[in-house]
Amino acid sequence: MSPPATAADGLALHHVGVRFGGLVALDDVSLRVPPGRVVGVIGPNGAGKTTLFNVACGFVRPTEGSLTLDGRPFRPRPHALTRLGIARTLQGVGLFAGLTVLENVVAGASHTARAGFAAALFGLPRSDNDERRLRAAALDLLAELGIGKYADAVPATLPYPVRKRVALARALIARPRLLLLDEPAGGLGADDVAELADLVRALPGRDDGCAVLLVEHHMDLVMSVCHDLVVLDFGKVIAAGPPERIRDDPRVTEAYLGADVPAEGSAS
Ligand SMILES: Nc1ncnc2c1ncn2[C@@H]1O[C@H](COP(=O)(O)OP(=O)(O)OP(=O)(O)O)[C@@H](O)[C@H]1O
Ligand SMILES: [Mg+2]
Repeated sequence: MSPPATAADGLALHHVGVRFGGLVALDDVSLRVPPGRVVGVIGPNGAGKTTLFNVACGFVRPTEGSLTLDGRPFRPRPHALTRLGIARTLQGVGLFAGLTVLENVVAGASHTARAGFAAALFGLPRSDNDERRLRAAALDLLAELGIGKYADAVPATLPYPVRKRVALARALIARPRLLLLDEPAGGLGADDVAELADLVRALPGRDDGCAVLLVEHHMDLVMSVCHDLVVLDFGKVIAAGPPERIRDDPRVTEAYLGADVPAEGSAS
């Protein structure tokens, strides 16, 4: 049972179900991602994690249940998320191949650049000031993430961990209040995962406090950065709570830790 939603709820899923034909990918899943919290979703292969992520992004419509954002009904649409203060990184990387790193990051702020875009369309003078501010903010962010020197490179020339960081910078440039991360540690080595952990841990302290929904296989990362965890198995929530409690929950050990955890980066 979910209590009534309030303005401080952030993103909430209420009794969400998703069916793909006869297959039940999510069954009666409720969870909240309140402001300033890092909420992790874990579970064995095929548990429904990516489906849940896709529901939050609007790629998949629930067949049952509903979503709310700050207590109001919410029907996410992938291309309208930025305007609502929601940013995401997808499994893999997904950068624009024809743009430089800097241009990719600037593109992440498309809602703030919209006025400039409209101005260009109607032949009005563009706001060079806006463009300059945006580029400066993007350069700051790249520097903060330790990849400032790659600003003018194109993604294909860069190592995978750097591209993952560019994708994160592209999400953060919009100063989201909610960040949706799908397998951010996928394909990363131990050092990069440790740095990612530091970064994610710092997210709630950014700007006005960014909430994070983290879908991830990498147990150490999830355990070390999340305030709350939701464990899925066969589309159902089998446990939810702080990492300390989840770690010792026998249902979780059986369902998740006992199952084969795929090698890093094996997911698409
Ligand atoms: N578009 C789709 N059409 C049909 N079935 C799907 C679709 N997407 C996912 N499924 C099925 O729904 C179930 C949940 O899949 P999902 O990808 O959400 O799991 P997951 O927890 O992300 O798994 P993994 O750890 O392997 O990434 C699986 O049985 C999967 O085969
Ligand atoms: Mg998945």
